[in-house]
Amino acid sequence: MNAFQYKSGQLHCEDVSVARLAEEFGTPLYVYSRQHIVGQWQALDKAMKPLEHLVCYAVKANSNLSVLRALAEAGAGFDIVSGGELERVIRAGGDPTKCVFAGVGKTAMEIERALRCGIGCFNVESLPELLRIASIADAMGRRAPVALRVNPGVDPDTHHYISTGKHESKFGIALQDALAVYRAAAEMPGIEIRGVQTHIGSQITKTAPYVLAIRKMLPLIQQVRALAPQTLEFFDIGGGLGIRYRNERPPAAAAFAAAVKPLLRNLGLRIVLEPGRFIVGNGGVLLTRVQYVKQTPVKRFVIVDAAMNDLIRPSLYESYHEIVPVRKLSARRMFQADVVGPVCESGDFLAQDRRMAAVGEGELLAVMSAGAYGMAMSSNYNSRGRAAEVLVDGRRYALARRREGVGELMQAEIS
Ligand SMILES: Cc1ncc(COP(=O)(O)O)c(C=O)c1O
Repeated sequence: MNAFQYKSGQLHCEDVSVARLAEEFGTPLYVYSRQHIVGQWQALDKAMKPLEHLVCYAVKANSNLSVLRALAEAGAGFDIVSGGELERVIRAGGDPTKCVFAGVGKTAMEIERALRCGIGCFNVESLPELLRIASIADAMGRRAPVALRVNPGVDPDTHHYISTGKHESKFGIALQDALAVYRAAAEMPGIEIRGVQTHIGSQITKTAPYVLAIRKMLPLIQQVRALAPQTLEFFDIGGGLGIRYRNERPPAAAAFAAAVKPLLRNLGLRIVLEPGRFIVGNGGVLLTRVQYVKQTPVKRFVIVDAAMNDLIRPSLYESYHEIVPVRKLSARRMFQADVVGPVCESGDFLAQDRRMAAVGEGELLAVMSAGAYGMAMSSNYNSRGRAAEVLVDGRRYALARRREGVGELMQAEIS
């Protein structure tokens, strides 16, 4: 579904005019569509049937409690990477037994807390981490459920910052080392081998890298089954499903499932998925107001009130986000401009050399496809309070996070 559409010349999120939200809550403002977010989760969930499966939403993409609650109510599991994300899931009514806990640097405190909460599984990224989990579980008189995150050495053909399954990545355990680590795990009283996991990267717009990665993992799965026939339950094929930012043609949920299911059908294991961007990416926009239009001898700058601290993807990954005026005029002039924020960095831009609708001071713009890795990666750089967030559901909407005030920025500091 496309949750963001013009109605009577005004951009709407579902049935709510986003200009109205900007009036009420100010800018910069993140606006999310509940129907889009839950709909994406449901589409993937439905597409994976009749295989036994669990779609674990990757919390890192957008960790707002209202978003998590909507997904928990739909029945989602969660993929978490920190103790903080675990607490968010619990606060939002999510079930820790439906959580997989990834990340290369889990601390002893995080491991202990996750064990006490009954975490579904640790996705273990190294032998030292496995040893630490085993010893903590031992001391607690428990057995920790684990899967190893295995690097199949597949190039997902995406930005190198978000490619994770290649051999030189910091993530996971190399495929050729994995069996030895599983053998060690099988000898540890504090460990129960529950699964095998892989994740090859993010914003993957083709099915072929998944098919290749799964194929490369299948022999290992049989070897692990022989090691832990009683306890092996799942194969987690990670996240990374891409979305359309500009002109990409990523597979829909059904096409993705159709490509991978034939390889997974006869495994007799539950299939776990960890999508983040696919669920929330196109379910959110960042609303921002034009402050000035500045003309230099060589360039035009549209200076807006959102900045790299609100949405860092263009600066960090050179990502493209469509930027549209909230009020659509049929006969708008076009011009070329950089859309930039007030932060004191040349890298603070939302678009560069963009051919766009000619907008003027005071106008509202929507930065599209900003639901994933937008607010979640925001910061207080330049002592800027973080944006507010609103969740829309049909005609209804509710503030999901209030705007951060300057007082809050200084709250934890001592002078
Ligand atoms: C282990 C793991 N799972 C899932 C995800 C979610 O990725 P995406 O939002 O691209 O689906 C990531 C992203 O970094 C990840 O590292």
